[in-house]
Amino acid sequence: ATGTLTDPFGRDITYLRVSVTDRCDFRCVYCMAENMTFLPKREVLTLEELERLCSAFIRKGVKRIRITGGEPLVRKGIMELFRSLGRHLDAGTLGEVTLTTNGSQLSRYAAELADCGVRRINVSLDTLDADKFRSITRRGDLTKVLDGLEAADRAGIAIKLNMVALRDFNEAEIEPMLRYAHGRGYDMTLIETMPLGEIDDDRCDRYLPLSEVRARLSERLTLTESAYSTGGPARYVGIAETGGRLGFITPMTHNFCESCNRVRVTCTGMLYLCLGQNDSADLREPLRASEGDELLSRAIDDAISRKPEGHDFVIDRQNAGPNVIRHMSVTGG
Ligand code: GTP
Ligand code: 5AD
Ligand code: SF4
Repeated sequence: ATGTLTDPFGRDITYLRVSVTDRCDFRCVYCMAENMTFLPKREVLTLEELERLCSAFIRKGVKRIRITGGEPLVRKGIMELFRSLGRHLDAGTLGEVTLTTNGSQLSRYAAELADCGVRRINVSLDTLDADKFRSITRRGDLTKVLDGLEAADRAGIAIKLNMVALRDFNEAEIEPMLRYAHGRGYDMTLIETMPLGEIDDDRCDRYLPLSEVRARLSERLTLTESAYSTGGPARYVGIAETGGRLGFITPMTHNFCESCNRVRVTCTGMLYLCLGQNDSADLREPLRASEGDELLSRAIDDAISRKPEGHDFVIDRQNAGPNVIRHMSVTGG
């Protein structure tokens, strides 16, 4: 049935994030451990299953879909999924398809993504220094990412750069990044590191509250109020000197759960109702149990009726908190 998904707190769920693979060609220090064990293929939804899943959510009123990972563009055949979502865009049943990517494969795929109707992408970029880039991502090549950004720009795709703010690591590069982004007409958001999954570093050492960054930036630049919003968690300001937009994603210092409009599906078909909670629902079982979508539809409704009010992330040495065990790459942010 066509309808709207409304959770127990009256929030309409119109936005779905789909992680299409847990794999990534990078190992960002705040995201993954050096040694990761990835899922065996049979656990991962096929492209056909991912399409069925997306279609089921679209029938239930989801208007925007963001493809994430891991790194979504390392998934073999992924353009087939973008093609089929593009058909929903053409039919008007879906309003927007977006992508969050590390940019490593963008040069190859930018034109095709644009052709499938992708108008806007978010690219993770934490530094413009090639050596630092290598040390943060452990195996990324900055040049490839920068080439990828240019290819996307040429293809007419709007770009937002995501920069995770890390104390004593890339603090000094926030302003250069801003100038780089705004000089090219890209938006940029800063993100507070969230305690998701085991990593090799101590998160407390790297955690940098964005309230601090914002105060420092406003001593050097003119921050102006902005009403711009994608409906997501970022709160934007304008920068008078550059004419661009800067967003702050502050799950730690200022959470935004009351206006949450989203749920997330992993590449194994687990539906996570909140990024910062462990509650989930298995959608793979009903997907695989029958060719019809009745069971799946019921499982989705049932899960949404259990969406929690919000997250309770903590980064605190004294109080480890009920932190989330899965990595960001499982739910794609
Ligand atoms: P839009 O779709 O344009 O709103 O983009 P976005 O900023 O939500 O997506 P993106 O994939 O670029 O994510 C940027 C950061 O925001 C990531 O670190 C996400 O984990 C974080 N984020 C997105 N949604 C939520 C949320 O519901 N809760 C929390 N705590 N963080 C979120
Ligand atoms: N905390 C905050 N952001 C993270 N990302 C990955 N892991 C974390 C974390 N633990 C970011 C990536 C990407 C976005 C989807 O999430 O850099 O930009
Ligand atoms: Fe890969 Fe993104 Fe995680 Fe970096 S943050 S390891 S690019 S999934």
